[in-house]
Amino acid sequence: MTPRNLGRSGPVVSTLGLGCMAMSGIYGPADRAESIATLHAALDAGITLLDTGDFYGMGHNELLIREALASRRGGGGRDKLLLSVKFGALRDPAQNWGGYDARPAALKNFLAYSLQRLGVDYIDIYRPARLDPQVPIEETVGAIADMIKAGYVRYVGLSEVGAATLRRAQKVHPICDLQIEYSLASRGLEAQILPVCRELGIAITAYGVLSRGLISGHFSRERAAGEAGFRKHSPRFQGENLEKNLALVEQLRGVAAEIGASVAQVAIAWVVAQGPDIVPLIGAKRREQLTESLGALEVGLTVAQVGALTRAMPAEAVVGTRYMASQMGQLDSERS
Ligand SMILES: NC(=O)c1ccc[n+]([C@@H]2O[C@H](COP(=O)([O-])OP(=O)(O)OC[C@H]3O[C@@H](n4cnc5c(N)ncnc54)[C@H](OP(=O)(O)O)[C@@H]3O)[C@@H](O)[C@H]2O)c1
Repeated sequence: MTPRNLGRSGPVVSTLGLGCMAMSGIYGPADRAESIATLHAALDAGITLLDTGDFYGMGHNELLIREALASRRGGGGRDKLLLSVKFGALRDPAQNWGGYDARPAALKNFLAYSLQRLGVDYIDIYRPARLDPQVPIEETVGAIADMIKAGYVRYVGLSEVGAATLRRAQKVHPICDLQIEYSLASRGLEAQILPVCRELGIAITAYGVLSRGLISGHFSRERAAGEAGFRKHSPRFQGENLEKNLALVEQLRGVAAEIGASVAQVAIAWVVAQGPDIVPLIGAKRREQLTESLGALEVGLTVAQVGALTRAMPAEAVVGTRYMASQMGQLDSERS
């Protein structure tokens, strides 16, 4: 896999990273053995970046990664692997969400627990999942920088913040990457955030490259009826919105057939084609999904094909916001 630089200040990573969130149930149940087999297959294929959050399954995801690494020879090759961990999202025992806490003291507490659960001495990239409106970004980034000096963290990342916050954060400590949703269906970052990232030498780790499975080519209105997790409330998956969005996916399918790839592969390849500073996170929780996603690297889109895909799914034609209204309000990236 051709390596990409994770920003001017960050490490070298594989072209694609593996996002492990779906292995802890956000889109419905996941099979533990299959999740671990998928993690192993990803590492075997040359993926060097694993993304998680301490709140994914309330620690479940970190423990799963620990188990997957422990069951590989040499502990998974810790020194060749980059662990990217998000913190700050608060949960309750009923799994409800309870806001964010990115105060320095809270961060150090979250970090201590993550190190313990992951069974590692350091985390490669540590980032607040969202901007905590009560805490200046300088304090949060300053506290991560302290943890870097102490040897517990290697790089600072951010997630879903806007251009002004990026500039403030970068003055405290170099930011290696911004994790933010980016796909054919979600292109909001292109106007202001991406140019500022490029000016500051900050890479993008792109999530939602399949718009939570909506543009995977495998979703259907029949499946929507059985959804219990994120998609049950996601505006893009509701009623008429879903009908219209799936009609766009069919247009995408037509272009994908001409290219000779699957819908998921062209959707991932489209993000790969947006620049060498963009590292898509693939959200596979099964080996067959991983294999399909990795096939995107063989696609090598031409400029004309990128244009044809963009015309088949114009982002402005996608109906529904990428999160529910209450969650959209928590996105600093949507404010600037
Ligand atoms: N920073 C943030 O705020 C944030 C937010 C969300 C996610 N993330 C990170 O980004 C990662 C990617 O998650 P995402 O949900 O946004 O990814 P996504 O690629 O938009 O959606 C992944 C889902 O698409 C479906 N799918 C169908 N075919 C697939 C294929 N060939 N390969 C992979 N998935 C396929 C799967 O759901 P089914 O199995 O149900 O079909 C899968 O769970 C997460 O694991 C997490 O690490 C970060």
